Amino acid sequence: MTMGSQLKGFYKRELEERRKLLKEVAGVSDEDLKALADGLTLESANLMVENAIGTMQIPLGVATNFKINGKEILIPMATEEASVIAAASYAAKLALPAGFTATSTRPVMRGQIQLVDVEDAATGKARIEAEKDRLIVEANKHAGLLPALGGGVVGIEARILHAGEEMLIVEFFIDCRDAMGANTIDTVVEGMTAEIEALAKGRALLRILSNLATERLAKAAVTYDKESIGGEGVVDGIVRAYKFAAADPYRAATNNKGIMNGITALVLATANDTRAVEAGAHAYAAIGGRYTSLSKWSRDSNGNLHGELELPMAVGTVGGATKTHPTAQFALKLMGIKSARELAEVTAALGLAQNFAALRALVTEGIQKGHMKLHARNVAAMAGATGVEAERVAEILAREGNFSVARAKELLGR
Ligand code: MEV
Repeated sequence: MTMGSQLKGFYKRELEERRKLLKEVAGVSDEDLKALADGLTLESANLMVENAIGTMQIPLGVATNFKINGKEILIPMATEEASVIAAASYAAKLALPAGFTATSTRPVMRGQIQLVDVEDAATGKARIEAEKDRLIVEANKHAGLLPALGGGVVGIEARILHAGEEMLIVEFFIDCRDAMGANTIDTVVEGMTAEIEALAKGRALLRILSNLATERLAKAAVTYDKESIGGEGVVDGIVRAYKFAAADPYRAATNNKGIMNGITALVLATANDTRAVEAGAHAYAAIGGRYTSLSKWSRDSNGNLHGELELPMAVGTVGGATKTHPTAQFALKLMGIKSARELAEVTAALGLAQNFAALRALVTEGIQKGHMKLHARNVAAMAGATGVEAERVAEILAREGNFSVARAKELLGR
């Protein structure tokens, strides 16, 4: 578990030193570090997917300086994009001493049964609604361990959908506790098919969860002191950048991509379903009928910058790859996270920090300066440089503003 997240100069240390430091500040053991280094074995990979031939490696870094709901936390991020982790850490640093606040709703997801060729949709809907309590009891028999853990099926609704033809959509609301829940939800809706078909007098076609998890939301908020982020001009710039994203879907997509740079990196580090979270986020961004910004930025009464982010967050801390992937286990241990709601809250705060970092860079020096500085290390690596030599070459490339592999090779004398 994290004792503190402000690891001064963490980025300047050698990789091995960073790993050692985690033992001191985050209660990480030698075995944990070994599991992290070993990663996913071929045997495990072979059990996870079909036709396995190997594993795909992505860097795992740690975002520092985060304080969420008063607790300092080191956040693991799996990403191939340079500057994302540094940007998140910087945004978290500027948010101190207060840090971020975050909340989440009960982890309720919905499973859908699509009924077609329904004899009479209105009558079918009424029959299902009349039997709700009994159906919930029945559905919970398909919900595995969830009812015993305080979760399970908590509601059923039916609605008539006009989709070129009349359909009846029956939705099961399921509290997934600490699981992402996809498997259980799908088991419930498949298990209830015959019963629902009989009541609705129709034919069930699709039976599947919805990734637009509007009942399973995570929210984060932050207030940046205007002086600490560069003054009123920066506050004004970020508020106007937000207005751009709020009004224009072309900008909103990029703004939200920046948010997902953080969110997906943590979702992946915990071996959760990145596509489920991304589908939910983008669908939520369009829930008002027009695609818009997921975050909101405003100037508060003191002239400081206030930011908020709300989005569906279907992540779990038990089950699936989260339990079997050694890196995911490491990631959860590093954060000291036990519940899915806690993970959802950290994820939302990280997304908001990532968004702030991008907007601040965009309204000040532009994004490329920081990006290219970090990209220079990739270029040095492409030219065959390693360790200290790579750092030295990267520094020269950045200074010269020349990021070609040819120049890096020249500097290396190759
Ligand atoms: C790049 O990965 C993300 C940004 O484009 C996000 C944004 O424009 O807000 C910098």
